Amino acid sequence: MTRVIIDTDPGTDDAIALIAALNSPELDVLALTTVTGNASLEDATRNALGLLTGLGRSDIPVYVGADTPLVGKFEFAENYHGPGGMTTPLPEPESVPSPIPAERYMRDLARGSDGHLTIIALGPLTNVALAIQNEPDVMRQVKEIFVMGGAVEVGGNVTPYAEFNIYDDPRAANVVLDSGIPIKLVGLDVCERVAFGLSDSDWRSGTSTGERLAARIMEGWFEIHPEYDRYVLCDPLTVAAAIQPDLLTYRRAEVTVDENGEQKGRTRAEYDAGDIRVAVDVDIERARQLVLDRLRTAD
Ligand code: RIB
Ligand code: CA
Repeated sequence: MTRVIIDTDPGTDDAIALIAALNSPELDVLALTTVTGNASLEDATRNALGLLTGLGRSDIPVYVGADTPLVGKFEFAENYHGPGGMTTPLPEPESVPSPIPAERYMRDLARGSDGHLTIIALGPLTNVALAIQNEPDVMRQVKEIFVMGGAVEVGGNVTPYAEFNIYDDPRAANVVLDSGIPIKLVGLDVCERVAFGLSDSDWRSGTSTGERLAARIMEGWFEIHPEYDRYVLCDPLTVAAAIQPDLLTYRRAEVTVDENGEQKGRTRAEYDAGDIRVAVDVDIERARQLVLDRLRTAD
């Protein structure tokens, strides 16, 4: 099993990703750390706690992270994920977050982990960057970070150049990319190709708690987005990449992020010039099926 911390800004696709991660025997989910992004830190944290309660997993600890990026202010994405970052009511949380800040928890787990800790980052990279800034040598003990972020050969989803997680804290993205920690960058180049369609019946027909919760979230999403006929699985694909290493094809590159100006948040990759592994291809059907399978909870 891979010991993981999932850093997240739930967010509808985060929620789908978390259901799948918690149902994957390959992953030992040690904790969730929350970060502002799709919604305010308060809403993202409440969504994380409510989701865990709904899955009967209030045993998973939650650590609260950053409510401001390294520079500037966060922009939310409630226009996409719904008011408060969610499209369906989640249960009242049974648990409360830990008083330990998220970045400190990451450092505490990384210290002595000696390559036995993986981070899956599904939101802006502020928490991870703060941990690196505070204890770079400790954080370099992290085995690898799967980052949902970036758009290299394709356009962005916030601006024509920038993907949301990177756009919301570009300075943090550069800190993480420069850290020397092995990184797999799962960007729009691959994740926009993996989706559940409005007309698909498979994601609607499950009867387990996890499948029904995921279906409610996505049905609610399609209701507020009549302009879309497919629900893109960016965060779930990032979890899937941590489950099945050969799901994605990667190319090594040096990756830098524009921090200012019209192209703020743009991820520029120079292939074969660095050690960031940029996902450049995906086994679409296998990825989609894996996510679908892992929504099924053993009720
Ligand atoms: O651009 C997609 C990413 O931004 C996903 O992680 C989504 O949840 C939002 O955080
Ligand atoms: Ca997210």
